[in-house]
Amino acid sequence: MRCATIKKLQLSSVKKSLLLLSFLCVLPLSLLNGWPGGLQTLTAVNPFTTSSWSRGDRNVTILLWYWPFGRSFRLKGDVCWDHYRIPRCRLVDQRSLFPVADVVVFHNHELVQGRQKLPFDLPRPQGQRWAWMSLEAPIYNGNLHQFSNFFNMTMTYRRDADVTVPYGEVLPKEDDSVEDVLQNKSVQVCWVVSNYKSQHRRSQVYKNLSETIPVKVYGRWTKKPLTSRALIPTISRCYFYLAFENSDGKDYITEKLWRNAYQGGAVPVVLGPPLDDYKAVAPPKSFIHVDEFASVKELGEYLQQLAEDKKRYSQYFNWKHEWRVKLYTDWRERLCRICSQYDSLPPHKVYSDLEAWVNGIST
Ligand SMILES: *[C@@H]1O[C@H](CO)[C@@H](O)[C@H](O)[C@H]1NC(C)=O
Ligand SMILES: *[C@@H]1O[C@H](CO)[C@@H](O)[C@H](O)[C@H]1NC(C)=O
Ligand SMILES: *[C@@H]1O[C@H](CO)[C@@H](O)[C@H](O)[C@H]1NC(C)=O
Ligand SMILES: *[C@@H]1O[C@H](CO)[C@@H](O)[C@H](O)[C@H]1NC(C)=O
Repeated sequence: MRCATIKKLQLSSVKKSLLLLSFLCVLPLSLLNGWPGGLQTLTAVNPFTTSSWSRGDRNVTILLWYWPFGRSFRLKGDVCWDHYRIPRCRLVDQRSLFPVADVVVFHNHELVQGRQKLPFDLPRPQGQRWAWMSLEAPIYNGNLHQFSNFFNMTMTYRRDADVTVPYGEVLPKEDDSVEDVLQNKSVQVCWVVSNYKSQHRRSQVYKNLSETIPVKVYGRWTKKPLTSRALIPTISRCYFYLAFENSDGKDYITEKLWRNAYQGGAVPVVLGPPLDDYKAVAPPKSFIHVDEFASVKELGEYLQQLAEDKKRYSQYFNWKHEWRVKLYTDWRERLCRICSQYDSLPPHKVYSDLEAWVNGIST
């Protein structure tokens, strides 16, 4: 059963983390990661900080060639250790450090738009890796044929990337406090949509669903835009939240699930990547996938029954006793994660057809 898989996976990472904890003596444990302040807090129990001591005392230098979308963040001090408890990881953005960088990271958006270039004019040190980084769905990555044979590693939300940088994940919970999710529920189904296109599958599912159960729509499309401050309180008044992704790309599960639904305390009805992609990362019985039903009508009837049966409905929150959600919103944290996985990167790798890899055609 899937449930067993995710448990096993998380348990083994707990063990590894405990090992790491004892190895590193005592770490301040930061508990609850509230939104939107999550990025300021420390991540003490990180399942990816497992083998970082095997490279001895050496620091790994990660050079970010330019900041994604032109927005830079402070890199003063030992950022990866101070904020994320990832040791021996030097995160820099000065291009003069190119000759000593172990990994140079390039964010796809600026490359594809031609606003930034790969530094072909510089002699590439032996062993240096170039990383291609993107959090977009494949269709929004542009034409990647031009980038064949340059990159040694990928950084995306995909589980099979060299460094997986998800929008969120669940971690074992340290305490057992669960808020009362049934408070204030007054709306059956909510959907927040800005970019409505009637030909999208999600729009068709919404239309069909609203014939069976009332769906309240927010967002720019309805001329009722929600401020970011109003988003979570609005969703928390709904029994169900349509966490419909704009793409069905492999593992493309965004903050619609991790933040909007899970933190808003509404049961997510998901549409996007296949059911198995969700099962691999989200706790069992924490979401409802559209594909689990023979028709949208059956889905609507199921939601209706659930909203009327408080006991069955609240079972969709049982996972919150064991797991907490961690969001990833800060580029610095994503970049620091390279160091946690540095020692398990293959010694030699070249993406000879990045476009094909991104589209899931080959590896
Ligand atoms: C690694 O980085 C830390 C923090 O910047 C520094 O104090 C330490 O001297 C460095 N170690 C080595 C071996 O370069
Ligand atoms: C429910 O609504 C009341 C009044 O608007 C508010 O004070 C309270 O915090 C809400 N509870 C939850 C769990 O959202
Ligand atoms: C929506 O309903 C129509 C009419 O019943 C049906 O033909 C169509 O396949 C449905 N679409 C989806 C996405 O369920
Ligand atoms: C990285 O890729 C380049 C090709 O662009 C290759 O020459 C180099 O050996 C690769 N390095 C590693 C560590 O895989």
